[in-house]
Amino acid sequence: MDTIKTYVDQHKERFINELIELLKLPSVSADSAFSQDVINTSKVVKTALENAGCAHVEICETPGYPIVYGEKIINKNLPTVLVYGHYDVQPPDPIDLWDSPPFEPLIKKTEIHPEGAIFARGASDDKGQMYMHVKALEYMTANNKLPCNIKFMIEGEEEVGSESLSWFVKQNQDKLANDIILISDTGMIAKDIPSITTGLRGLSYVEVEVTGPNRDLHSGLYGGAVANPINVLSRMIASLHDEDNHITIPGFYDTVENLSTEERAEMAKAPFALDSYKKALNIDAVFGEKGYTTNERNSIRPTLDVNGIWGGYIGEGAKTVIASKAYAKISMRLVPNQDWIKITELFTKHFENIAPKGVTVKVTPHHGGQGYVTPIDTIGYKAAAKAYEEAFGVTPIPQRSGGSIPIVALFEQELKSKTILMGFGLDSDAIHSPNEHFGIFNYLKGIETIPLFYKYFSELSK
Ligand code: BES
Ligand code: MN
Ligand code: MN
Repeated sequence: MDTIKTYVDQHKERFINELIELLKLPSVSADSAFSQDVINTSKVVKTALENAGCAHVEICETPGYPIVYGEKIINKNLPTVLVYGHYDVQPPDPIDLWDSPPFEPLIKKTEIHPEGAIFARGASDDKGQMYMHVKALEYMTANNKLPCNIKFMIEGEEEVGSESLSWFVKQNQDKLANDIILISDTGMIAKDIPSITTGLRGLSYVEVEVTGPNRDLHSGLYGGAVANPINVLSRMIASLHDEDNHITIPGFYDTVENLSTEERAEMAKAPFALDSYKKALNIDAVFGEKGYTTNERNSIRPTLDVNGIWGGYIGEGAKTVIASKAYAKISMRLVPNQDWIKITELFTKHFENIAPKGVTVKVTPHHGGQGYVTPIDTIGYKAAAKAYEEAFGVTPIPQRSGGSIPIVALFEQELKSKTILMGFGLDSDAIHSPNEHFGIFNYLKGIETIPLFYKYFSELSK
């Protein structure tokens, strides 16, 4: 019988080629121009699960994009692992900044990945990481090594807020019943420093519109005499942080959990090199809330960022104009205990309050979700830690991430189970960005580590 290491070695060419085929499909959930591609991708995922040995696979229709559900139940008395992932991807824009087309996967060597990385939208987030689980299942079924029941739930709307999945989960508690949820949609510290994500931030995403005069005006005839919505919006946004980079929305920090000195000291043990961090981003200084380290700022502290801002004339040359309207898209990353609905309300109220006379503002909430934390003294965490230890030869580091997977908190609420976040991506993968890629080392190492999780989770559950 093959060990997972030799199995991956024997089949790695095929594993890479299959992922490349999946990455050719432009499953962009945000843009309806790609809707047929998103639907096609769900069918490809279904076939992949069937080929990997899932006994029963179905496409579950939803009001939005379909959910691919699969299961292999070997014994009702054994524990059940539910694997979640997403087959949709972020829009590839700005396309001009890609060195190779986003849906024509290309293997290239990089400084971090001398053995090569696959460049394509979705390579790391999340097709590559999701597909590791499909290949791990293939190994376990082909070699009679599946020690427990397994369920798969792969959605196509994660990048746009998982609305259909929330609906699906609330309706299918029995079908989705499990002992633990397993997800690879996060990262690790470095190729030789595995980590297990123990927290995710919540999110509130809003769009704001500032309206001034009822039409665009000549900036000479009216400039200085009428509130300019773009000037006003810039000021309003600037006022959302004080000089210490604290957020000024009243009540914003009320429920934020403050970590103890011990917890912060524990966090500070995680390896972090400020110089390489700055170098990788080509910045001469980091920035953020006073009193916190970079790793704290991007994980245990809430933030507010403008994601896009527009209005007025942005074409070639100059046009002298005061626009009637200005817009911005704003995200707030939240920490556990901050309720995203409440924060959205606080934001809306505050933004309306600070609008000066002469303009009106409209705040439109988009999606959001709650943050998540998980303790490390659980069977699930221990099994994951043992799996990494065996595959990487080192103990993984628990780490709270700054990213959001809002559905994880909903899983806990509706399915009453905890999630283990075994991510194999790296910060340098450029997810959501041009030239997204996933290291071949990371991909194959993920396939190698996952079956070990099943082994240890089953053993520890006895
Ligand atoms: N996989 C990411 C989230 C992530 C990445 C968490 C790396 C931790 C480390 C996910 O696909 C994502 O992009 N989530 C969105 C939120 C969603 C509601 C659009 C995010 O974090 O912006
Ligand atoms: Mn993702
Ligand atoms: Mn994403």
